[in-house]
Amino acid sequence: MSIIKNGVPVGLCSDHAGFELKNIIAGYLESQGIATKDFGTFSAESCDYPDFAHPCALAVEAGEVYPAIAICGTGNGIGITLNKHQGIRAALCWAPELAKLAREHNNANVLVLPSRFIAPETAIENVNVFINTEFEGGRHQKRIDKIPVK
Ligand code: RB5
Repeated sequence: MSIIKNGVPVGLCSDHAGFELKNIIAGYLESQGIATKDFGTFSAESCDYPDFAHPCALAVEAGEVYPAIAICGTGNGIGITLNKHQGIRAALCWAPELAKLAREHNNANVLVLPSRFIAPETAIENVNVFINTEFEGGRHQKRIDKIPVK
């Protein structure tokens, strides 16, 4: 079942390396009738991923967007930045099986994609699985509750 919430857009952020894939994903989501809110970057000019990851993370934590999709070349820089926020569970996924488990087991609220290591069609498959897979709860909730640093 879809995790998209009525009236709440999907957040998007990337650096220059993820800019093109971000646009492809935004177009795909919009073609599916899913609203997006783009936190940048807005060009292929070299930039620093934290400048876009932090505003996106804050918006997820505030409930202004849900879920979010974040992209950089490897997925590591942007994912590391997002996961500094206590309310963020950002999962780096390069195969749909990972996106499914990131939702089922980790209740991931940000899908992180490595633009330099994933084909656009695989990235879209990951997006589809991620937004259509629910958290299993149960034993996984107990584990998630232990993640934040108090
Ligand atoms: C940019 O060249 C690249 O370093 C960045 O997109 C990302 O892969 C960093 O983790």
